Amino acid sequence: MTIEEIANYIVSDGKGILAADESNPTCGKRFDSIGVESTEENRRDYREMLFRSEGMKGNIGGVILFDETIRQVASDGTLLRDLISSQGALPGIKVDKGLQQIENCPGETVTVGLDGLSERLKEYAEMGAKFTKWRAVINIGEGIPTDKCINANMDALAQYAKCAQDNGMVPIVEPEVLMDGNHSIEDCYDATDRSLNALFEHLEKHGVNLKGTLLKPNMVTSGSNCPTQAGIDEVAKKTIDVLTKNVPQELPGIAFLSGGQSDVLATAHLDAMNKIGGFSWKLSFSYGRALQAAALKAWGGKPENVFISQDELSHRAEMNKLASLGQWEEDLEDR
Ligand code: 13P
Repeated sequence: MTIEEIANYIVSDGKGILAADESNPTCGKRFDSIGVESTEENRRDYREMLFRSEGMKGNIGGVILFDETIRQVASDGTLLRDLISSQGALPGIKVDKGLQQIENCPGETVTVGLDGLSERLKEYAEMGAKFTKWRAVINIGEGIPTDKCINANMDALAQYAKCAQDNGMVPIVEPEVLMDGNHSIEDCYDATDRSLNALFEHLEKHGVNLKGTLLKPNMVTSGSNCPTQAGIDEVAKKTIDVLTKNVPQELPGIAFLSGGQSDVLATAHLDAMNKIGGFSWKLSFSYGRALQAAALKAWGGKPENVFISQDELSHRAEMNKLASLGQWEEDLEDR
């Protein structure tokens, strides 16, 4: 498959991405919430359960993995990455190495991981990874984000994207403006606008082929502690507006992160945008928490809960596929 074919396949027919690339510490936090110890075996069992869910088929076009998971085998000896392929989804891999404070920029970070990236990518390509992900984080606060932070992050994203394409894999570029804080939706719009503008400038400068690239942005929302929360229609309109302003038409797809939104709200926002329509790219999902939260809770680390947990994941995957097609209705959540 060419990178253009891979990118198009992942978001074809309403399909989206399951983000299952939580680092071990993040996975530890998720497991703490259900009282399960984060051991390698428990992480394997949990993810194996997700990847065997019936609702993966036809709804999930790609799964983002963490380094540990792409090497793991299921209880019956099948590689987890092969399980994913057997469900009609492509395996992908998170390749950044996390966040580092920027000197003289309090509260701001740059994502690192360019050192040795090409070698790491070669190994992942040999293992069968078809796409990759790199996440940049932009904070909103007093006097931030600074141009320095935005530029450092967007330049690293573009260098990574070029390297991924040179190794035959699709880059997912993720410039995440965090929801944390009491800022207004206008502040989020402004930070998102500046970040996307810089991102596409840097992608062009580094010669990245946009037809073989996917964008994973935040939606434009009120800060999570903002006293007045924007409604679904406003989030949908402002998000489409900032994307239309900045994202070239040749990009095949945009798959949102959920960023701490509740699972149903993340679906409702996506559906509202697709009901408005009028854009050239596929507008889809690449959710972590918003796909997994209900499944994680239902599982609780107990083998007897595997089926109900898988049913929860399948349900969210189906709902989000409908939302990617603008065909979701709130009533469908009553089960
Ligand atoms: P959330 O949907 O939970 O924000 O996770 C998506 C992701 O991959 C963050 O990098």
